[in-house]
Amino acid sequence: MIKKVKKVETSLKGEITIPSDKSISHRAVMFSSIANGECTVRNFSSGADCHSTLKLFKELGVDIEFLDNKTLKIASNGKLTPNFTGVYPCGNSGTTMRLVSGILAGQNFSSTLIGDASLSRRPMKRIIEPLTQMGAKIESIEGHAPLIIRGRNLTGIDYTSKIASAQVKSCLLLAGLNAEGKTTVTEPYVSRNHTELMLDYLGADLTVNNTSVTVQKGALTARDIDVVGDISSAAFFIVMGLIVEGSDFVIKNVGLNPTRAGIIDVVKRMGGNIEILNETTISGEKVGDIRVLYTENLTSCEIEGNDIPRLIDELPVIAVLASQAEGETIVRNAEDLRNKESDRIKCLVSELTKIGIDITETADGFIVRGKTHIQGGAELETYHDHRLAMSFFVAGLIAEKEIVINGFEWTEISFPEFEALFNQLV
Ligand code: S3P
Repeated sequence: MIKKVKKVETSLKGEITIPSDKSISHRAVMFSSIANGECTVRNFSSGADCHSTLKLFKELGVDIEFLDNKTLKIASNGKLTPNFTGVYPCGNSGTTMRLVSGILAGQNFSSTLIGDASLSRRPMKRIIEPLTQMGAKIESIEGHAPLIIRGRNLTGIDYTSKIASAQVKSCLLLAGLNAEGKTTVTEPYVSRNHTELMLDYLGADLTVNNTSVTVQKGALTARDIDVVGDISSAAFFIVMGLIVEGSDFVIKNVGLNPTRAGIIDVVKRMGGNIEILNETTISGEKVGDIRVLYTENLTSCEIEGNDIPRLIDELPVIAVLASQAEGETIVRNAEDLRNKESDRIKCLVSELTKIGIDITETADGFIVRGKTHIQGGAELETYHDHRLAMSFFVAGLIAEKEIVINGFEWTEISFPEFEALFNQLV
């Protein structure tokens, strides 16, 4: 789908409510499917990625029913049963493939996980290697999907991951629930901790010590889960509010888990006018409303080290924000951006350059020089990547000439409501 975006002539005002967090929605379905008992999951994501997870667990025999379009009833005895083909599509979703691998590795049946073109290019060695150390048997095409997982009895390991990846950590903790003894995962920096919070909420024997998490073999007990709004979706609106002249609006129901809220810190470092209101906790996760105001005098900043896992998915739209900040914004230690739905460093730099943003690719990130007057007047590719599509839309709102975004339908992966919410603010 082609989307044409014109400079927005009015300021953005009003109030929007951010839909369900993708990471938490995935986990709510996965963990409830392997837990004992019945529960309700409220505010489940309407994104295609989470629906890939949902379909997969239905195929594994779990009783999942929609009570309305955002509410699920899930009933399980904690056991999974293979479908007739043994093949389970994961669509575009890395979270589905990597986390489900941890669950399937310890089952008493074999499974094959397949993905779309983008997912089939993404690295799976990061989970295959440690799962193999636990006793798993996984065949792949040189570390890429399809993954043939031959279920085995697993044994816990003490694993130190080179990358801070919540997907790797979660995969191993899920395998650990079904492995003899205990499983410990240590990462260089703490990645998003939704798995730890939810496993703890569902009664797992889990301990966290700085950057290490340990889980013991054991069962989960189903409990109702309310999914908070997605800060990664809110990020597009945070940046819009800061860069579209005269804007002043409230973004409601935003998950503010500190392991995800790196963008808030970066906006503050850049001098952005942002305020957190009505903070509370829902199903173990922090949530609040964000008021965002247009900020004329943004300044550049450096983003690196333990900032990175806390805002990894927000970096494309942060690049757009940095184009409106005075000075050089430098992003380092973000080489894993090359392994997302697209090579997000290369693709971001090539497309933003087309519309006149001064951005340079580096091995592990990028450098943006601002403040730029975005010219626009170009056609941008989205490379199967939902976050690029929405970041380009945000840039288009302040570009002099109309921009054309090819493949805008990729927004359906995480945020089908994106444009409708934008229209509420115009
Ligand atoms: C996710 C973790 C992140 C993130 C992805 C979702 C998750 O990936 O980029 O969109 O839900 O665990 P990594 O853990 O590989 O960094």
